[in-house]
Amino acid sequence: MCGIVGAVAQRNIVSVLIEGLRRLEYRGYDSCGVAVLAGGEPKRARSVARVADLDEQVRETRLEGVTGIAHTRWATHGAPVTDNAHPIFSRNELAIVHNGIIENYETLRDMLRGKGYEFISQTDTEVIAHLIQSLYSGDLFAAVREATGHLHGAYAIAVLHKSQPDTVVGARQGSPLVVGLGEGENFLASDALALAGSTDRFMFLEEGDVCELTLEKVRVFDRDGKPAARDVRQVAAYGGAVELGPYRHFMQKEIFEQPRAISDTIPQSDVFDASLFGETAPKAFAEIDSLLILACGTSYYSGLTAKYWLESIAKIPTQVEIASEYRYRDSVPNPKSLVVVISQSGETADTIAALKHAQSLGHKHTLSVCNVATSAMVRMTELSFLTHAGREIGVASTKAFTTQLVALFVLAATLGKMRGNISAKQEADYIRQLRHLPAALNSVLALEPQIIAWSEEFSRKENALFLGRGLHYPIALEGALKLKEISYIHAEAYPAGELKHGPLALVTEAMPVVTVAPNDALLEKLKSNIQEVRARGGQLYVFADADTKIVNDEGLHVIRMPEHYGLLSPILHVVPLQLLAYHTACSRGTDVDKPRNLAKSVTVE
Ligand code: G6P
Repeated sequence: MCGIVGAVAQRNIVSVLIEGLRRLEYRGYDSCGVAVLAGGEPKRARSVARVADLDEQVRETRLEGVTGIAHTRWATHGAPVTDNAHPIFSRNELAIVHNGIIENYETLRDMLRGKGYEFISQTDTEVIAHLIQSLYSGDLFAAVREATGHLHGAYAIAVLHKSQPDTVVGARQGSPLVVGLGEGENFLASDALALAGSTDRFMFLEEGDVCELTLEKVRVFDRDGKPAARDVRQVAAYGGAVELGPYRHFMQKEIFEQPRAISDTIPQSDVFDASLFGETAPKAFAEIDSLLILACGTSYYSGLTAKYWLESIAKIPTQVEIASEYRYRDSVPNPKSLVVVISQSGETADTIAALKHAQSLGHKHTLSVCNVATSAMVRMTELSFLTHAGREIGVASTKAFTTQLVALFVLAATLGKMRGNISAKQEADYIRQLRHLPAALNSVLALEPQIIAWSEEFSRKENALFLGRGLHYPIALEGALKLKEISYIHAEAYPAGELKHGPLALVTEAMPVVTVAPNDALLEKLKSNIQEVRARGGQLYVFADADTKIVNDEGLHVIRMPEHYGLLSPILHVVPLQLLAYHTACSRGTDVDKPRNLAKSVTVE
C-alpha cells in the first residue's frame, strides 16, 4: 500500500529516495513518484509503471536535489494515472506525498476552489497541498500544524516548500510515520524499513504529531501543539534486502521457511508461563473471563482457529470478529474480556481502529500477536507476543499465519494451565508436540511434487470449493483465500456440514472440491460429505491424514499427509493448501508476490 520516503541532506538524495521506494515495493502500489527542490523549484518525476521505470526517468532527466520526498501510491481517490500520482504540487511552490484518506476533502475542495485554487488531480491529497499552501506565510511547520487541524480522516504526509530549501515537514494521524536520524541529514518514512542502509536510529511518531526536519535538527509537536520529545530507538534488524535465493518467488521461499519461522516462535521455556506475554500478563490473565479477537484477512482466520483452541483447551469463551465490522457496530463491551489483535504488520488501519474502539469502550486488557516489534499495535497494547516469522514479502501471507497459530496455541495452553484445565502431563505433551512441529512440517513440504501435479489441473478451472470441519474449517477458508488472491480463481470455503444447504448445487464434474481431512472426531461425518460430492460427479481433491484410510478412487484424488497431529493439525494442513495456490498461480502465470489490486500492508480503511 502507499509508502512515503523523505530526506533533507547535503548530498544528492534521489538515489536514497528511490532505494527507499524499492524497499516498500512489496507492499503493493500502482504508481510512484519523487520530487526534489532543484534550482529553487520543486521538480518531479512520476510513473504508473514500476519503481525501476521511475529510476530510469530520473537518470534520463538528471533529476537531482538535496531535499526531496517520494511515494508509492495505491489508488483510493482517483485512478492510477500520472496526474493522480504523488508528489502532488500546489502552485508549483509546494510538494506533498500522502498516505491515508481525507474524509472531508469535498468540503475543503469547495472552500479552496473559492479561494482560487485549481484542482488538477482527482486525489484527496491535492486538497491538503492547497490547504497548506493557502496557510503558508514563510513557516511550513506552522502551516502544516494549522492545516492538520482542518483534516478529518487518516494521514501520514511529507511536505516541502520552495521557500525553505532545507526543510521537510511531516505529520501523522492514523497512518504510520517514522523519522530516521543521520549525521547532518535526516529522513522521514512510512516504515523504518525504507531507510535501511541510511540510518538505524529512529523516532516513531505518535498520533497527531507534526515534525520538522532540517539538516541538523528534528522538532516534534504533539497533537496539542506542544513540543514533544520522542524516544530515539536503534533498530538494527532492518539490515539488508531480503534475498530470493534458489526460489522462484518470495511466497514459495516463505512457505519453505515455515519450519524455521515456527521453531523461532516457539518459546524456549519448558512450561507455559503467562509472563511470555508481558510483565503484567499474569495479573491481567487472572482478571479476564473471556477473549475478543480482532483481525483482518489471513490474521482473522488464525483468530478463528484459535477460538477452537481457546474454548477447548482453556475453556474460556472467545469471540472472533473482523476488525472493520467490529469498529462500526454497536457491541456490548465486557471490561473483563481480553482484547487480542492479530496482525502480521501491526499497522493494518482497520485493526488499529478496532483496537482503539475497544479501548474507548472500556476494555482494560489488550494483547497484540504481531510480527513487527516496532509496529503501532505492539506499542498500543498492554501485552504482546511477537511471532518470529521474519520479513514477509509475498502479499499472500504464509509464514506469518502459521507462526500466529503457534503464538495463539501457546496462549490457549497458558490460559488453560492458569485456569486449571490442563495437567502437567498434558502441558509436557503440548510442549513436545510444538517442538516436533518443524520436523513434521518438513515432511509436509516434501509433498510439493504431488501438489504440482494437481495444480496443473486446477490452473484450468475458474471455480473451486474448499471443505473443512471444526478446527479445520478456518483452514479451508484460508486455503480458498490463498487460491483466489494469487491465481484469481474464484474459491469459496464451507464447513463440510453446510454442503447440502446450498453449495452442493454448484457441484459438477467441472468443480474441484478440495477437502481437508484430518483423522479427528469428525472424520466419519466428513467421509459422508465426501460421498455426497462423489454421488453428484464432483471431483474431490483430499488432503487426508495417513491414518484416515481415505484412498484414491474414481473422482477421489488423495494426497497422504503424515499421521494425525492432534490439536496442532491445522498448522500442518494449511501448508499443502498454500502450495496448491502457489503452483496453480505459477501455472496461470500471475504476478504471485504482487497480485493485482492487493496490498501487503493495508494502511487505509
Ligand atoms: C492484507 C494482506 C493480507 C493480510 C491482511 C491483514 O490484506 O494482503 O495478507 O492478511 O492485510 O494484514 P495484517 O498485517 O494485519 O496481518
